[in-house]
Amino acid sequence: MSTLQPVAEPKVTQTGGQCRRHLLDLDDFSPQEIEAVMETADGMREVLGREIKKVPTLRGKVIVTLFYESSTRTRVSFEQAAKILSADVINVSADSSSVSKGESLLNTALTLQATGADFLVVRHPHSGAPYLMASHLERSGVINAGDGWHAHPSQALLDMYTIRRHLGRLAGVKVAIVGDVLHSRVARSNLWGLARVGAHITLCGPPTLLPLDLLRGAGAEGGAYLPDTVAVETDLDRALDGADVVMVLRLQKERQQAGLLPSLREYCRLWQVNPKRLERAKPGALVMHPGPMNEGIEISPAVAHGSQSLIEEQVTNGVAVRMALLYMLAVPGREEAQR
Ligand code: CP
Repeated sequence: MSTLQPVAEPKVTQTGGQCRRHLLDLDDFSPQEIEAVMETADGMREVLGREIKKVPTLRGKVIVTLFYESSTRTRVSFEQAAKILSADVINVSADSSSVSKGESLLNTALTLQATGADFLVVRHPHSGAPYLMASHLERSGVINAGDGWHAHPSQALLDMYTIRRHLGRLAGVKVAIVGDVLHSRVARSNLWGLARVGAHITLCGPPTLLPLDLLRGAGAEGGAYLPDTVAVETDLDRALDGADVVMVLRLQKERQQAGLLPSLREYCRLWQVNPKRLERAKPGALVMHPGPMNEGIEISPAVAHGSQSLIEEQVTNGVAVRMALLYMLAVPGREEAQR
């Protein structure tokens, strides 16, 4: 028989003085701020384990999700996170809004702000779209839920949280990021975040799908990448050698231009993570994938659903991390005020 539980607020962590309204990428996150997100997500996971998953923390806040690209995990988990925290959630899809009549991104954002939205959770096919919105909004915060090839910060934070939960740390962890790095906003945000906390990253894929401009330092403003932090490897076996974590990326077939791939069969032969290849990583290495997967292309079904796979747990952790992010953006310094 179910029993009513008291509505206890989640345990949260101070952000070290940071007070941000927008979440656009991880390039300006300090290690302390990343750690604060991780610790706050621990408190949110405790809420997810309760029989009644509801706390009043964000009562009265309005969260609008605005997706110009399809999504399952990100949209649903932001909605779930906001509802558990008692925020009001409004979902807007580009197809059924006035966007389909030609309304611009900026006018859409200003309209939603005028309705009283506290936060806009935005996914857009153009890199930089959430930055444009953030620069014009005076009251609403903007959360980047994936912009073009550029960034997907909440995904990277949930990936880091998943690693930290299993290995107990992020510093010094060897992470192989494998596949279509060129088109992956997940890889870019993970690079910023993982480099910031001292992980060692090896990027692996076909040479045509590795963003060599980024790796030559064009994206390393602020010195986020230390020389021994990021390695590039086109040979999958060498990339997986001794890895603690194997993060497999989706081959983004919709973004491929002619000539980038020899053939799908060749791609699978050289870069698919299968059980034999996984043996090169550390015993028990964590297998991750941001989803959605092309099973049988970048990852074999045996690995995707094997004992080392954390792919479903990533989704659950995504709810906890997005709860933490909404909380930290919506009520910065509140824990200070409660003392
Ligand atoms: N990982 C991710 O962004 O998945 P969705 O496209 O389903 O949101």
